[in-house]
Amino acid sequence: NNDQKVEELLAEMTLEEKIGQMNQYSGFMDFTGPKPDKGRAAKKLEHIKQGLVGSMLNVHGVENVRAVQKIAVEESRLGIPLIFGFDVVHGYKTISPIPLAEAASWDLKAMQRSAEIAAEEASAAGINWTFAPMVDISRDARWGRVMEGAGEDPYLGSQIAKARINGFQGKDLSSVHTVAATAKHFAAYGFAEAGREYNTVDIGTSTLYNVVFPPFRAAVDSGVKSFMNAFNVLNGVPATGDKFLLREILKDKWNFEGFVVSDWDSVGEMVAHGFVKNGREAAKQAVIAGSDMDMESYHYIEEIKGLVEDGEINEELIDDAVRRILKVKYELGLFDDPYKYCSEKRENETLYNPKFREGVLDMAKKSIVLLKNENDLLPLIASGQNITVIGALADDKTSPLGSWRIGADDETAVSVLEGLEKYDQNRYTYSKGADVVTGETSFTRELKINTTDKSGFSEAISAAKSANVVIMVLGEHGLQSGEARSRTRLDLPGVQQELLEEVYKVNKNIVLVLQNGRPLALPWADEHIPAIVEAWHLGTESGNAIAEVLYGDYNPSGKLPMTFPRHVGQVPIYYNQKSTGRPSLPSPGEVFWSHYTDEENSPLYPFGYGLSYTTFDFKNLEIENTYAEDGSISVSVKITNTGNRKGKSTVQLYIRDEFASVTRPVRELRSFKQVELKAGESQKITFQLTDKDLGFYNNTGKFTVEEGSFQVFVGEDSQAELSGKFEL
Ligand code: IFM
Repeated sequence: NNDQKVEELLAEMTLEEKIGQMNQYSGFMDFTGPKPDKGRAAKKLEHIKQGLVGSMLNVHGVENVRAVQKIAVEESRLGIPLIFGFDVVHGYKTISPIPLAEAASWDLKAMQRSAEIAAEEASAAGINWTFAPMVDISRDARWGRVMEGAGEDPYLGSQIAKARINGFQGKDLSSVHTVAATAKHFAAYGFAEAGREYNTVDIGTSTLYNVVFPPFRAAVDSGVKSFMNAFNVLNGVPATGDKFLLREILKDKWNFEGFVVSDWDSVGEMVAHGFVKNGREAAKQAVIAGSDMDMESYHYIEEIKGLVEDGEINEELIDDAVRRILKVKYELGLFDDPYKYCSEKRENETLYNPKFREGVLDMAKKSIVLLKNENDLLPLIASGQNITVIGALADDKTSPLGSWRIGADDETAVSVLEGLEKYDQNRYTYSKGADVVTGETSFTRELKINTTDKSGFSEAISAAKSANVVIMVLGEHGLQSGEARSRTRLDLPGVQQELLEEVYKVNKNIVLVLQNGRPLALPWADEHIPAIVEAWHLGTESGNAIAEVLYGDYNPSGKLPMTFPRHVGQVPIYYNQKSTGRPSLPSPGEVFWSHYTDEENSPLYPFGYGLSYTTFDFKNLEIENTYAEDGSISVSVKITNTGNRKGKSTVQLYIRDEFASVTRPVRELRSFKQVELKAGESQKITFQLTDKDLGFYNNTGKFTVEEGSFQVFVGEDSQAELSGKFEL
């Protein structure tokens, strides 16, 4: 068995070779962090030969992987194969919607399928380990990496974490079609102060246990093979050097058997954080804490040997780390065949295989959220209309791929214009109106937003004047979200808001198609524009998915996984907030209650919200309380499709534990079910609640279920009104 094989190999290894397994270098083609200095970079190949490297990241493509693997296997003393990691976040070549968009589908099967597609393509290109899924909960749309997660809710986030891990890893990790997954970034990276990338995190025990941890715990329970730690300091301790997080919680309490990789130089960054004085101390604290593999800081390879020899690190900690890493390599089957992911024939047949497009198109359609549809402006009538399309993003074949898709090729997305052309019964004209960004767009370089050039406005305005319908495709460029892409504003970047208002002056029949990687605050659009479609960055099939929704061939069913604020000043804004002592207005005009003097408290669009081309009605909420007998509460509701076309609803159940020893949120999502109904059709939906849904983690980290009154709400979003009560 694998454990025995690991022990036998470990017994043969020198201390240097063990440390080598804990060392990960970036390859020679892409960078996903600051570039290392040249002197160090030059040593990489030499180190592989000496058995001083356990893993490479950013080496991909069969030819490259094979060449580097050959050095490890044929030239190092023990021939231990490398494990090849890469950020396959929402696809390798064929790109799915950004993860936040996928989360809006609430469709776990579709998300699992999307991860399966990503794994199949990436593994055909030599990759056997992805740095995904990111399971960080975030309530702050200013943070650029919200595009990479599942949004603000720990319950939804946990279900999605499981689906994605099952998709990446499959049932059999040794299959050549699957890859090892990574739950990242442990922990609390999504709570960076003010949404500024890499910033300090300071959160309380209750939030840590009840909001941040659950998706990570779900990842462990799903058998995820690795964890990545986070760049941030959590309550004064860098996550990379945090023994409480990595040993006490992850490895001891949750029994995680895989290994922990650092983030890019997060070991070294502990010096800049002011936690340790040099690289040697950084390596020491990271190893003691439980960071098993060092990504690109060089401190493990340079310092651990001396630390062990000087008795500052016990070699047992090194053995523990190496065991974990080797075990995953055995499970992947790399010792049986180090080149198993290196078939040129398979690579040629697999990359961009048309069979993947069906899956990512399905995912893209399911990810779209209809935010507003006054007077049924949508769906569009399929012929006889004179339609004009405005916006640089409508003609963009790269931006819809979104951020964190570093294996993909630019210009490979279907643009909105191309998608609409399929419906050529209508006559389209197109004008750009204004660029969103100018100059080079690169994953590693700052973008330049167009804040001045309005020279295209007049052409767009005159086209709008003679159109029956104006489709405006506005929002963020695909690289405006992602790592290090924090924003202080949540508006339409550059001159786009002005363009929207100018066009509106001449034609009010506007369908606003939004492309963005985070919630935006668009109160003017909500007030004036009759139809708004949230189309995120939907990947390769973007334009086709959008066209199908605009023409009603797909009835939109997406639900927001993150709250959309009215104004950036409300952020962090999230539905599962706590009550204050003064939650509502005592009497009109009084000032001493929890509110803003210049804006409402409520969001523009709440968590869970999304319209359909049909409508649903919820009635007959019934609660059967058999908790005393069998520990369960059953909640049922009758849902009816009250519109005139078939549609899918995501029925959401929220609870409120009214009084508890640690206060509970005003609402918490505890279950959801998707149901498709024909026009006029009804169905009874039943949910079962048990202790895992009714309890919470107290401030000692203990899961507890307390007696008392609970409210339950069922409906189509986090503001659902149909409610009932039960007692425990
Ligand atoms: O996986 C990523 C991580 O999420 C952010 N820093 C770089 C890593 C490797 O590319």
